[in-house]
Amino acid sequence: MKSIASAPAKIILFGEHFVVHGTKAILAAIDKRVTVTSSFTENKTIKVNSELGTIEVSFGSPDKTWSYKEAKNEFRPFIFLANKMINSHQDINGLEITIDSDIPIGVGLGSSSACCVAAAASISGLFKELSSEEILNLSIEAEKTIFPDTSGADCTVCTYGGTIEYIALWKDVEEGNLYPVTKKIDNTFDLNLLIANSMIPHNTKNSVEKVNKFKENDEDRFSQLCDLENGLIDEVIVAMKNNDATTFGLKMSENQKYLEEIQVSNETIDGMISSLNEISLGSKITGAGDGGCIIALIKDDNMDKAPALLPKDKECFSAKIDTKGVVWSTIEE
Ligand code: PMV
Repeated sequence: MKSIASAPAKIILFGEHFVVHGTKAILAAIDKRVTVTSSFTENKTIKVNSELGTIEVSFGSPDKTWSYKEAKNEFRPFIFLANKMINSHQDINGLEITIDSDIPIGVGLGSSSACCVAAAASISGLFKELSSEEILNLSIEAEKTIFPDTSGADCTVCTYGGTIEYIALWKDVEEGNLYPVTKKIDNTFDLNLLIANSMIPHNTKNSVEKVNKFKENDEDRFSQLCDLENGLIDEVIVAMKNNDATTFGLKMSENQKYLEEIQVSNETIDGMISSLNEISLGSKITGAGDGGCIIALIKDDNMDKAPALLPKDKECFSAKIDTKGVVWSTIEE
């Protein structure tokens, strides 16, 4: 049997970094995907194949506890998920997991979150059918093996698809479990979004630590910025309801100023943003920054002009919102 799942990439339209400190955020899934295929083998190993390489670890020890912590970061979530499933199903001999992705890695488009979501659906699908909510919880656990401080916002949008408002107001559900509130934003107007890749890989953990330092050094200003971000997001929600692209774009540029203040922008990103000014209603970093990608809301039918305006070594593409989220199925062989 093969269990196949795919999950979309994501962009953060508003609120990255501040969301880690409890503010709201708006995210959207986009039309780039990762597919994870899992199957049983007879090899007493967990084998993971991806464009980043292959790892094969033995789980033949009596307690099957080869720790994911011994694997390189990029393989940890897969080993973690495979171990978790194997440990609760003693009759399994081996697992092979293959990842195929068209999501650029390490540039703020949620490649690792999409992998965690698709892997959670694919690996668990070999054993039993999970609900989207169960897949989401499993994927966040898997993502924490690489990035313990994750806000969970990325995995949430990769699971459900569409555009979401992620509210880190934690609500007490049964037995003291805490969950963030997620609201789907329906009927959004057609966002003419361009994604431009600075081609500078970034490290989310390092950028988040840098922002933590900013906060430690100036608690008052950071708290003001969090309030500003929450206010801005409320205005964006109204703008979206009113199909008001002009305000949406202006708010993107305002959000970029907050990101510049917490020092996750740099000269390359600032340059890319300025070069798109004449054709955009607003633009900003998407994701952790310090490199990675920017998003720009493009005016009318100006999308084709973007490549010529950006520096030659940058890549760009127009993005459509994905509404499907994670999808999965099994094939009997
Ligand atoms: O660059 P990415 O795709 O890893 O996004 C990071 C977004 C942060 O807000 C900086 C962290 C988070 O967990 O929300």
